[in-house]
Amino acid sequence: MLFAKKLRTWYLENKRDLPWRTTSNPYYIWLSEIILQQTRVAQGMPYYFKFINTFPEVQDLANASEEEVLKLWQGLGYYSRARNLQAAAKHIVNELDGNFPESYNGLLKLKGVGDYTASAVASFCYAEAVAVVDGNVYRVLSRIFGIDTPINSTEGKRQFKELAQELLDKKDPATFNQGLMEFGAIQCTPQKPLCDTCPFSAECVAYNQDRISGLPVKLKK
Ligand code: ADE
Repeated sequence: MLFAKKLRTWYLENKRDLPWRTTSNPYYIWLSEIILQQTRVAQGMPYYFKFINTFPEVQDLANASEEEVLKLWQGLGYYSRARNLQAAAKHIVNELDGNFPESYNGLLKLKGVGDYTASAVASFCYAEAVAVVDGNVYRVLSRIFGIDTPINSTEGKRQFKELAQELLDKKDPATFNQGLMEFGAIQCTPQKPLCDTCPFSAECVAYNQDRISGLPVKLKK
């Protein structure tokens, strides 16, 4: 079976119900993805609700005081994320008439939005066929395909993005991207992955060559 098809089946049967998966509001999705960077779902969830309740529209976030935004962010760390969040909200309101950018390239121009966030929002909200690559995706692809290029090297980043882009279900990029991240989060976990129930174990290079603990490869810098 095709990689994308298998992943889709697994995802539809195993996904968690997460609040940002039942909205297509780009403002909410963007908030969730910024909050979830370097943050676990369980830790980020209360912040997601605090933000959408306090600032239900991008205008509310743009018009808040920086103090209020930082206060709401308290406990999440990496405060530049909160400052960039508000700078981007102001930009959307003041320069884009309150309209969220509707493409990967448009999203990339927002402060604090890089390849990961632009791909996530563009695929989840606008069905743009761009692959998301985060830590989960590096782990899953390195193991199944047996790729030992360091994930924090320039060549590694290029290679994994290219592979994810080739595998991507171009008809439903949102489900594929969510599925690949979810697979890494709950099946192909860093420690003790659930290989016994994994739909890819027959072809997984790491599993079949007993290299699970050695993948992905990360260079010490
Ligand atoms: N971590 C980052 N983005 C996520 C998402 N959309 N769903 C679950 N975990 C995530």
